[in-house]
Amino acid sequence: MKLGQTAAIIVAAGSGSRFGGDTPKQYMPLAGGTVLSHCVKRLTAHAAVGPVVVVIAAGQEAMARATLGPDIPLVQGGATRRESVQAGLEHLAGLGDVKQVLIHDAARPLLPPHVIDRLVIALEHHDAAIPTLPIVDTLARCHDGVVGQAVERDGLVRVQTPQAFALAVILDAHRRWRDLPEPTDDASMVRHFGHDVLSVEGDLMLEKITHPPDFARAEAQLARPLLPRVGTGYDVHRLVPDKELWLCGVKIAHDRGLSGHSDADVAIHALVDAILGALAEGDIGSHFPPSDPQWRGAASRAFLTFACDRVAARAGRIAHADVTIICEAPNIGPHRDAMRMSLAEILAVPLEHISVKATTTERLGFTGRAEGIAAQAVVTLLIPDL
Ligand code: CTP
Ligand code: MG
Repeated sequence: MKLGQTAAIIVAAGSGSRFGGDTPKQYMPLAGGTVLSHCVKRLTAHAAVGPVVVVIAAGQEAMARATLGPDIPLVQGGATRRESVQAGLEHLAGLGDVKQVLIHDAARPLLPPHVIDRLVIALEHHDAAIPTLPIVDTLARCHDGVVGQAVERDGLVRVQTPQAFALAVILDAHRRWRDLPEPTDDASMVRHFGHDVLSVEGDLMLEKITHPPDFARAEAQLARPLLPRVGTGYDVHRLVPDKELWLCGVKIAHDRGLSGHSDADVAIHALVDAILGALAEGDIGSHFPPSDPQWRGAASRAFLTFACDRVAARAGRIAHADVTIICEAPNIGPHRDAMRMSLAEILAVPLEHISVKATTTERLGFTGRAEGIAAQAVVTLLIPDL
């Protein structure tokens, strides 16, 4: 699926009647943002998600803009959740390019990126997929404070959002729904029209904020300590004539350049691998296969931006990066500050957190013979404890 073909709708047009209070729950301040802004951040930061649209209640545009800024498209919702979802779907259908959609409750702010990964993978072979969790407690009926018969829980699951669909399938279900009884979620609608819904593993972080204690739990989860994680990366590219030389996103005047599928910025490649290593999320080749023509000649800063987005999607940050370039020539010293500034700008971290060093290998080995340039990188990330 090309970028831009997977969209997300966040429904935030509810009144939060069970939560109570003056501020609707989706606009409650939460860890430097609001409940709603956490949802938006986690979806926009995910590499597989393109357009994100937020469905809001009439009269709440100023409140939404205050927490989301000017760029996120806002759509007016309806009297029921279903109507709000349909308003978002009709907006996406109007964009033309969208093929699949994740529909998410604004009331579930702690959306982990691996749940999005599972849903997007499931959509490769299914029209609908939703996150579920097993039920661990005994279930029982209860009337007027008196517990009745236990309910068999075998085969029952708890259903969460985001729920993921082929756009045509969920749009059709909404357009045909009309006078049918109000559904409790979107998956039950496509099921009604005969589509299978795949279950993927949900996550406890996705618990919905319905009552005030749920909000306190979300706050506590966001206050989890950040733990350091260290990753290393290493890369080599061959020096060839008639190529530009790019190192750390900076073009260096030199008699030769590095050969490779992309712009062959060996330093950035090592850094990307270090970040992915710290996240334990594969390596540069698994995300940007050299066999994929779209990366031919690509500026490697795009790979680094991708790695940064993965860190942001985990609510983490880059504490430090240290890159070592190993070559006889060119002399890196005069370019060191430009390289540090370039990396600091791409990583969006202060300059003093970025180090670029260089060494020769005393004319020994392939770097010593100037057949190629090697780079290694170490990064420290700060990632919330699980
Ligand atoms: N929602 C919506 N439009 C509606 C009703 C609900 O967009 N007409 C959204 C809510 O904003 C929420 C999600 O659907 O993000 C799940 O709904 P729920 O948790 O029930 O929220 P509220 O309807 O706002 O709360 P309550 O039912 O307690 O009034
Ligand atoms: Mg509701």
